[in-house]
Amino acid sequence: MKKTSLKKDIYWVGGIDWDLRNFHGYLTQRGSTYNAYLIIDEKTVLVDTVKDYLFDEMLARIEQIIDPSEIDHIVSNHVEMDHSGSIPSILEHCPGAEVITSKRGEKGLRKHYGEGLNLKPVESGESINIGKRTLTFVHTPMVHWPDNMVTYINEDRILFSNDAFGQHIASAERFDDKLEWGIIREEAAKYYANIVLPYSAQVQKALEALSGLDIDMIAPSHGIIWRKNIESILEEYGKWANSETSPDKALIVYDTMWGSTGKIARALMDGMEEDGKSVTMRNLSESHISDVMTDILDSRFVLVGSPTLNNGMLPTVGKFLTYLKGLRPAKRTGISFGSYGWGGQAPGEIEDILKDIGWDLPVEKIRVNYIPEPEDLERIREAGKELVNSIEEGQ
Ligand code: FEO
Repeated sequence: MKKTSLKKDIYWVGGIDWDLRNFHGYLTQRGSTYNAYLIIDEKTVLVDTVKDYLFDEMLARIEQIIDPSEIDHIVSNHVEMDHSGSIPSILEHCPGAEVITSKRGEKGLRKHYGEGLNLKPVESGESINIGKRTLTFVHTPMVHWPDNMVTYINEDRILFSNDAFGQHIASAERFDDKLEWGIIREEAAKYYANIVLPYSAQVQKALEALSGLDIDMIAPSHGIIWRKNIESILEEYGKWANSETSPDKALIVYDTMWGSTGKIARALMDGMEEDGKSVTMRNLSESHISDVMTDILDSRFVLVGSPTLNNGMLPTVGKFLTYLKGLRPAKRTGISFGSYGWGGQAPGEIEDILKDIGWDLPVEKIRVNYIPEPEDLERIREAGKELVNSIEEGQ
């Protein structure tokens, strides 16, 4: 087992979840890690833990460095069980250790693990001295739960950011200069789109709170540690939190029964491509909704289509829209569309949901009876052009 040191006397002691492919519905095709960190000073501090089934791995990593009974403090930056799940087990090895958490963390940890924990709630901005080092805690509520906080080592300029800046990547490497930026950026974007997105207003506040810190390293609770691309990932977070998208990118999300809604989708694509847009097509019978959310993060235009089945939309499209409603990406412009034999309710239902989340739908929904004729397809291509021309440059 390889020892990983971030800086002198600061170690990564987490667990690698190589086989994870489903994180509450999110397709984690590259697995994940739960990152815990050990700081050796006059006091010994463990920052966060791992999912309970990886406790033995964390313990073995700690035992390579110290006797776990020497742990004085456990910092719990976040109650969710992928990070707090091994607190009860590690406390069996260091029963006197104090668990440092936010006030809301105190409540959450007691609900999860009972009244017996020795908890020390800290205020935002509060610091503790552990010898040569000072740890400062900054509350970052709703990034990702109400209890979240981050921990900063003033002397080493390391930010333990918990879920923020995380990515679901299982790797033998720990640092961002050992992997391609494109891969880490893509997984960080997917993580933001599927986990952090609904809390973008709180991310903006967290970024403001952290902007005064001099940061050498961002050590999140999932995936790779940032030490090379810190400025780039902060910049990406700023864009995502502000709902900044590419005005040149469009995404068409749809499903089709007998091919007609697929033909409408391709005609919309043709119209938008003729106007110079880059168009991504996602058929929901083949694409995972968590990957579609990653596409939405950068796309200014998002078009959603379904044929009508049993007086409504296809279940694949209904599932996607339920997920989308919860994540609520803002500032998108779209169209709803679909074919039908009779009834034809699906595009109207889609339109209602997109309006409900605040999207702009400047072009009338598209409905085609049975199979689109050449003149229908021409009208649809024009609708695609009309859509992309509906926003002013820079909007
Ligand atoms: Fe990685 Fe919100 O837990």
